[in-house]
Amino acid sequence: MSDKIWPNVTLVQHPVIQQDLSRARDVNTSVEDFRRLVGQIAGLMAFEITRDYPTENLVIETPLGPATGRRLARELTLVPILRAGLGMIDPILQLLPAARVGHIGIYRDEETLEPVTYYQKFPPNIAETDVIVIDPMLATAGSVNATITCLRQYNVNAIKVLCLLAAPEGIENLNNAHDNVTVFTAAIDERLNDKGYIVPGLGDAGDRLFGTL
Ligand code: PRP
Ligand code: URA
Repeated sequence: MSDKIWPNVTLVQHPVIQQDLSRARDVNTSVEDFRRLVGQIAGLMAFEITRDYPTENLVIETPLGPATGRRLARELTLVPILRAGLGMIDPILQLLPAARVGHIGIYRDEETLEPVTYYQKFPPNIAETDVIVIDPMLATAGSVNATITCLRQYNVNAIKVLCLLAAPEGIENLNNAHDNVTVFTAAIDERLNDKGYIVPGLGDAGDRLFGTL
């Protein structure tokens, strides 16, 4: 665990999230349980990451008459990074069913660790929406940085990143590459190893989610 504090990073330390994350890290956790745990953590973290989103009044009719309620004032776009981000998306959509989903497909070249983008499809009005980039792992930050660079080309301003685990090196790389991006993570681990894996981490998130180990 890193002791360093970054002003744009929120560490979500809820006990239920920490318990689930510990079980997800365990090498003996099955694919089935890993998938369920990642989804559950993602849903819980979605509450935190949306906490400061603006709301507006609306008038609704209860069985006893009119009442003033609240609704999110801005549209939301979730951008999962394929593959592993897909493992987080359904529970978040249960919480935020009106959200749009933009997909970006990126994998890391195993030799260079550079991100390779192979697919992207975003809602046409994405620039007017609040965007949450979703990926369980922020390792070198190459994948997240490539995603944010792409989103900036679509004039997206409001970007948050939701991950489960971050490496200090990845946070530094993200902050060196991009301004005005906030990160929500359940843990900041010690470091990256020489293959770019987070240590102690949880291994390869995509492989553990989809059983491709
Ligand atoms: C993993 C993970 C992130 C990326 C993080 O994807 O899901 O997208 O690595 O590493 P980075 O911060 O160094 O870019 P991977 O490249 O294994 O692709 P996959 O999800 O298709 O397996
Ligand atoms: N991608 C993963 O899935 N795990 C890591 O530790 C680093 C990158």
